[in-house]
Amino acid sequence: MFARAQGSHLWDADGREYIDYHAAFAPHLLGHNHPEINAAVRQAMEDGWSLMGSGTTAWEATLAQMLCAAVPTLDLVQILNTGSEATANAIRLARAYTERDDVVVTLGGYNGWHDEVGRAVMPSLADVGPRRVRDEYPFIPISAGIPVSTQRRIHVVNFNDLESVEEMFRQHQIACLITEPVLQNVGVVLPRPGYLEGLRSLCDLHGVVLIFDEVKTGFRSALGGYQSIAGVTPDLTVFGKAVANGWPLAVLGGKREIMNRFDAPEPNRRVLIAGTYNGHPANAAAAIATLKILGRDGGSIYGNIETQAMSLQSGLQAIFAERGRPAVVVRNASAFCAYFMDHAPYDLHDMLEHHDFNFDRRFRAKLIEQGIYHFPLPCKQGSVSAAHTKADIDRTLEVAQAVVASL
Ligand SMILES: Cc1ncc(COP(=O)(O)O)c(C=O)c1O
Repeated sequence: MFARAQGSHLWDADGREYIDYHAAFAPHLLGHNHPEINAAVRQAMEDGWSLMGSGTTAWEATLAQMLCAAVPTLDLVQILNTGSEATANAIRLARAYTERDDVVVTLGGYNGWHDEVGRAVMPSLADVGPRRVRDEYPFIPISAGIPVSTQRRIHVVNFNDLESVEEMFRQHQIACLITEPVLQNVGVVLPRPGYLEGLRSLCDLHGVVLIFDEVKTGFRSALGGYQSIAGVTPDLTVFGKAVANGWPLAVLGGKREIMNRFDAPEPNRRVLIAGTYNGHPANAAAAIATLKILGRDGGSIYGNIETQAMSLQSGLQAIFAERGRPAVVVRNASAFCAYFMDHAPYDLHDMLEHHDFNFDRRFRAKLIEQGIYHFPLPCKQGSVSAAHTKADIDRTLEVAQAVVASL
């Protein structure tokens, strides 16, 4: 049980201290309990936080303007509370816009807990079966209770596989393809050169809405999202997590022509977006403060995070090399993952076939025993924050060295 968090550190109920790389599944890009964000939330409480649900507030309007300025592909945005709500609304919007029902998702991706995207994130190789070429993978539900009729409309293809995407687009009436631009729920699986551009071209060719799920990559990769690094323009994007540094806020935004459907004058074309707490002033105040900090001094904070994350990556890589342990430490900005295999995985199938899951489990368990909180499940991405210091990284590497030696 955890009792307290501050900056880059966590304390459990027994008073043990940890350097935190889990960051609550990634929101805490600026570190835990950030004073400036706390102050912004306190101020919102003083100034009328209970206005949510009454109509648009100044917090919501300011945040919308800041988001559209930060991410060039956002013409319009809607503010929600969680990433899952944002992906559910994005899919509904795409269906209304295209008048089609089917959805393509990527194997090893996570887009929230709801029925439309709820497939297992890390299924076993036995469940996944042989590698599919120009074909879809079985839909393995993440939960009991997902209707078979829903599962049939969702087509699962491998990441970095344009041929299968093309085949799905030919075979079915696809409304949208939703994918994380970097798979960050099975570590850090980077897109191959040309993959995201290829998705853009295929979506254009087949009239499919391209949705980037940047709930994890957004604001962690860059202020403009991973899309600004890749140079690829999705039709819609969802953000969450780091956008409000731990406060429950998510964003759905994108092209005006599609987003306008939330406001269409004709009832049969209008898409409902609802939620009592959408645009909640406390969360919006946290997001405004977060974006201000991220954008300050030309975004210099990203350079600081990059320095610490890079030294963690190269330090870990050197430790594994010294011990002759096949490993590749993959990183996207602040997000990192060590894969115990001889190359960086290019999709989940590759990972399931080659990664040493057993060593990964033992490595993480030992790190935790020694005060380094890296999530205890294999292939879970780690997150460096702006609060991590050189001393944190040095201590982490010292512990990692001893742990690898002991294993
Ligand atoms: C890429 C991605 N999309 C969507 C979600 C769902 O977000 P939430 O947990 O806020 O509903 C997550 C959560 O981990 C995620 O990583």
